[in-house]
Amino acid sequence: MKKEKLIIRKAKISDAATMHKLIQHYAKEDIMLPRPLMGIYENIRDYFVAEKGKSLLGCCALHICWKDLAEVKSLAVKPKHTKQGIGTLLVKQTLEEAANISIKKVFCLTYIPKFFRKFGFRKIEKRYLPHKIWNECVNCHKFPNCDEIPMLKCLRR
Ligand SMILES: CC(C)(COP(=O)(O)OP(=O)(O)OC[C@H]1O[C@@H](n2cnc3c(N)ncnc32)[C@H](O)[C@@H]1OP(=O)(O)O)[C@@H](O)C(=O)NCCC(=O)NCCS
Repeated sequence: MKKEKLIIRKAKISDAATMHKLIQHYAKEDIMLPRPLMGIYENIRDYFVAEKGKSLLGCCALHICWKDLAEVKSLAVKPKHTKQGIGTLLVKQTLEEAANISIKKVFCLTYIPKFFRKFGFRKIEKRYLPHKIWNECVNCHKFPNCDEIPMLKCLRR
């Protein structure tokens, strides 16, 4: 039987509902922030997905915030498929895209700083991030008591 290969590709509109379901799964466990389906559609071009055969196994987005700054967000891998390197591939793909479009700095807001450290992200204070990025925070159920850890990685020029 043919073994399906894992690929990382840009998301399509038809992936949105599955990505939403995956993100909601972790949001219910309070380990990710929820994303409305409408927000996923609106930002579909930000997303990468990991796909094996016809199964979507993970997703991650790169969202441009400012002239030199982007955010890696909405990283999730299906529970049965974690610890197989899929999360790593997704983050690397977003960092590669950031470098390709000459983004200088990439940040994330995370509960798992250990995971992001491996890619060169380092903890920073929230005040170093531009106010613009807090726009969506007012819609978050945790606002104003955000407990996510901000981390930043500078990309090589
Ligand atoms: C975090 C997540 C995306 C990692 O995906 P993955 O495919 O399992 O990651 P990989 O297999 O590439 O890497 C696994 C490594 O990450 C580490 N890791 C995975 N989840 C971790 C966690 N919650 N805390 C700390 N480290 C974690 C593993 O220990 C492993 O480290 P190692 O390579 O040194 O052994 C996945 O566990 C997930 O979807 N978690 C729930 C959603 C989430 O927390 N998203 C991040 C929001 S910022």
